Amino acid sequence: MSMSYLKRIEKGLLSRKKSVLEDKALFHSIRNLPTLPFVTTKVMETMNNPRSSASDLSKIISSDESLAAKVLRLVNSAYYGFPKPITTISHAVTILGFNTLRTIVVGISVSGLFPGKSEEGIFSRKSLWLHNLGTAVGAKTLARKIGRPDSEEMFLAGLLHDVGKIILEEYVHEEFMNAVENSHSQKIPLFMAEQKILGAHHGEVGKYLADHWKLPAILSEAIRWHHELENTKEFQEVAAIVHTANHLARTLKIGNSGDFSPLTIHPAAASMLHHYNINPEDLTDEIKWGVKECKAFLEMGQESEKDPKTTS
Ligand SMILES: [Fe+2]
Ligand SMILES: [Fe+2]
Repeated sequence: MSMSYLKRIEKGLLSRKKSVLEDKALFHSIRNLPTLPFVTTKVMETMNNPRSSASDLSKIISSDESLAAKVLRLVNSAYYGFPKPITTISHAVTILGFNTLRTIVVGISVSGLFPGKSEEGIFSRKSLWLHNLGTAVGAKTLARKIGRPDSEEMFLAGLLHDVGKIILEEYVHEEFMNAVENSHSQKIPLFMAEQKILGAHHGEVGKYLADHWKLPAILSEAIRWHHELENTKEFQEVAAIVHTANHLARTLKIGNSGDFSPLTIHPAAASMLHHYNINPEDLTDEIKWGVKECKAFLEMGQESEKDPKTTS
């Protein structure tokens, strides 16, 4: 992804009328975000490199003792369901596979980069992370039911789908909170309130961040279009998966996304569910169980924020 590509996105977002993003130098801030740990960047690179192998991944993870310990804790949780303990990273890669391990590393690192704050009210970062986790588990469950081979990528797309809200909350706090208030009082979708107040919404900002991190298009496009399924053809199914999982996380009251609009499902997502003959209600038990079992993602993210060098 060249810098000029990001520049073009910036130009598109900044040239909009009434955009406050320019004044706040939001994009400058994104470019100067705390960088991802070196190991995570390396792992993300393997997502774009078809020649990367399981042993490359295993070597990268094992080079960071703290991360390796966290990964082993998570792979031994009930969510991944192996009867015998997995004690080494190379064993974990063999048993769980390359994609699952990669999801775990990126998931731990990203939730550690923007840890939840404890403040409550109609929006808190902590509740948003729980909503993101619910969406991640939902997207993976749904992708499997459909028979897609990329259910791990869908987990990450779900985990990151609202990451733009965290950026907005961090860098244009007052305006973002006004948008949440607006969604709450007017019962309108949050992304529309953001669009009205900020001139851009969390899907666009999230895509910008995903591109900045050089994540694969399937992730950045799912993030970009999860509220506007009608505007993408090529990525409509992945956007519909994330959209439906977002809907289920809200319906099941897993966390809080700051969106207070009535629960409706986009017609494109409804027709996807119809096409695959899926009743989303059939997924709810699996999602609730999955969220309970993999909350460790969020807990470990926060640990790494407190002390990045902790070896747990
Ligand atoms: Fe969203
Ligand atoms: Fe969401």
